[in-house]
Amino acid sequence: MSAVPVLETRGLGIRFGGLKAVDDVSLSVPEGLTLGVIGPNGAGKSTFINLVTGHLKPTSGSVLVDGKDVTGAKPWVIAQSRVARTFQIVKPFRGMTVRENVAVGVLYGPDGTGRMSTALKQADEILGEVGIADLGDRPPGELSVADARRLEFAKALALKPRLLLLDEVMAGLRPGEIEPSLQLIRDLKARGMTIIVVEHVMKAILAVSDQVLVLNAGQRLMLGPPREVLSDPQVIEAYLGHKYATRQAQQSEAAAAAEAAEAAEAAAGEAATASAPALSSAGGSQPDPNPTAGAVDEEVAPDA
Ligand SMILES: Nc1ncnc2c1ncn2[C@@H]1O[C@H](COP(=O)(O)OP(=O)(O)OP(=O)(O)O)[C@@H](O)[C@H]1O
Ligand SMILES: [Mg+2]
Repeated sequence: MSAVPVLETRGLGIRFGGLKAVDDVSLSVPEGLTLGVIGPNGAGKSTFINLVTGHLKPTSGSVLVDGKDVTGAKPWVIAQSRVARTFQIVKPFRGMTVRENVAVGVLYGPDGTGRMSTALKQADEILGEVGIADLGDRPPGELSVADARRLEFAKALALKPRLLLLDEVMAGLRPGEIEPSLQLIRDLKARGMTIIVVEHVMKAILAVSDQVLVLNAGQRLMLGPPREVLSDPQVIEAYLGHKYATRQAQQSEAAAAAEAAEAAEAAAGEAATASAPALSSAGGSQPDPNPTAGAVDEEVAPDA
């Protein structure tokens, strides 16, 4: 693992007229880290991604990839440094099939094969990874919202990135559809990829992030371990809302109670084994056989 961070931003910012959409954001992302990025609508999350990938030119500060200053470079130049991203508003090539959309990335990415047949084969493998292997022949316009987001994901993977920036790839997915996307992110992490995940789905943020960055009005409000960040009063005030915080606190209490009950059961079990093996002496202190801890619902989004 390299000591040089895969991504570093120094005082990064952009103004749109009087609006500082991203304002003085400094950040260092070491290799292999998954960074969750959260914040209210309009906080500057997508703009931050655009600044890193060259889709927007910063008005202040700098962007370094693997220690190399790429500030203001064109997106395709930055992509050659193995940086890939998805777009919040999906951007497929409409005149091509789903498979061809992904093959383009394979052909023109840093490992560009130059051979269409090889690119199409790799495209099929990547479509399988994101869970739409059966849709390769379709035009992207026919895809559901969820599948169009999977195609976005696949197009980014086609570039074989070391740094992957995902802008709400799980938005619009049903709860049951989120788990495969989370598993895919875990697999990419296991391969050592450095990932930045922008999401409003807190379950997803908690499931994959090593660190969480909170942006608010363009500024870095907080950076830290996921649970610490999500229970921070400033973050609750600015983004999550008090209803979310109350729900989370209740769930933590339920989880703690269930844990205590489990510990009591284990202790009682040990005592029973020691004194009278044939007798369950735990009696009235038996815990609820269906504690709610396992059912903690973290699928909650921030308050509307
Ligand atoms: N090209 C642009 N020109 C002018 N203003 C812009 C431009 N792009 C973004 N903005 C403004 O910058 C601010 C940050 O927008 P951004 O899209 O980065 O927010 P976000 O955190 O991604 O929000 P969301 O959660 O809704 O996706 C918003 O006020 C937005 O209107
Ligand atoms: Mg956005």
